[in-house]
Amino acid sequence: MLVHKITEVREKVKEWKRAGLSVGLVPTMGALHNGHKSLIEKSVEKCDRTVVSVFVNPIQFCAGEDLDKYPRTLEADEKLCTEAGVDIVFAPSPAEMYGEGHILSNDFLTYVIPPYFYTDKLCGKSRIGHFDGVCTVVNKLFNIVQPDFAFFGEKDRQQLIILKKMVNDLNIPVEIIPCPIVREESGLALSSRNKYLSDADKQEALALSKILFNIKNCYKKGITDVRSLGETAYAFLNENHSLEYLEFRDENNLEEKTTADDGTVVFIAVKINGVRLIDNISLR
Ligand code: PAF
Repeated sequence: MLVHKITEVREKVKEWKRAGLSVGLVPTMGALHNGHKSLIEKSVEKCDRTVVSVFVNPIQFCAGEDLDKYPRTLEADEKLCTEAGVDIVFAPSPAEMYGEGHILSNDFLTYVIPPYFYTDKLCGKSRIGHFDGVCTVVNKLFNIVQPDFAFFGEKDRQQLIILKKMVNDLNIPVEIIPCPIVREESGLALSSRNKYLSDADKQEALALSKILFNIKNCYKKGITDVRSLGETAYAFLNENHSLEYLEFRDENNLEEKTTADDGTVVFIAVKINGVRLIDNISLR
């Protein structure tokens, strides 16, 4: 069932709650692929009712990013959701979420701002304000849907860590369920932005997962010095790759590691032909 209005979702969820049913929320920006499908399936399995939100959230895009060209495929998204057993696809307009003539600067909108320590690094370094936009919209979605469980992919692991922190700090009564990265057979992590890649770019994109798998292999063989592990990446990079970061950080608070251990996550971001791709791997 496709719903565009906040009041309508609220009514439905209220009915479910009165009947004692548990509610799962899978927040998405649409252009759903098998990665999203795995989150949806988890929710359908765990919860009595599942809501999938499809909303390309303008306030998490920075100036010059791909807000206008971000893929919008609502019809196909709805079909995937219906087939997977989703109860409501919530697809609000920007005006429904932020008000008519929505003025999205923080002079006019109440923002949820996660701690700087979590956002001044990795993707937050080049995407100023991105995580403020994510936390604000996810908080709004939590208030609208009031789910018992919310499902997020480990693909966006910095986002996942920040959202867990937000839920904990603000005592939001929802349990966040992390879901593993889904990869193509080649190793490429699924992402809606893979649609921007040509076949040749996709070949180049394999470097990200190859670098991460190789680092994990080296770690498992006993190498723990982060500098040595990081240097192994260069064997997989060529002039078509622009490496934005390769960093070793704590899985809970994103602190930098100098010696790798099981609680370390390796994060990578590479631009290929102007398309920015991210990936990560836990060394556990
Ligand atoms: O991960 C995403 O797709 C988005 O950042 C989210 C969590 C749906 C918020 O817009």
